[in-house]
Amino acid sequence: MASIDRADPVIMGHLLAQHRELHDLLVEVRGAFDQPSGAVARAEVAGRLGTLRQHLARHFEQEERGGFMEESLCRMPRLARAAREVLAEHPPLLAAVDGLLERLAARDSGGEAWQQAGRDFEAFASRLLAHERNENAVVQEGYNEDLGLAD
Ligand SMILES: [Fe+2]
Ligand SMILES: [Fe+2]
Repeated sequence: MASIDRADPVIMGHLLAQHRELHDLLVEVRGAFDQPSGAVARAEVAGRLGTLRQHLARHFEQEERGGFMEESLCRMPRLARAAREVLAEHPPLLAAVDGLLERLAARDSGGEAWQQAGRDFEAFASRLLAHERNENAVVQEGYNEDLGLAD
């Protein structure tokens, strides 16, 4: 318990900073979709999506290695299941980005395929944002419980 004052804001701050960075990357990909279809636009989306994929893989790896969710688990064992469920979403989320990249490369860069790729990306973005919201909630709940703020 002695580490609460120092460790919690650091871990929470790091997690939130990474989530903000991922959100900015999502916005950049969306911005790249927001242009007329064509080979140049497709290459730009693929590049930004590739960057997002790299950051996402590193972020997931850090969360799985510990320091984020692990803290919550130690503090509050009943959150263990919620934390496991949220971490289990990582592989399918990465697979979804890979799918977007593959389809982007395989399809032609014409209007209809471009629209579809944009819709697919938005569906993925919603999934990722929901994942990060759940994750924040699990970690926050652990801290609140620890600090005596939970119901
Ligand atoms: Fe995560
Ligand atoms: Fe996360």
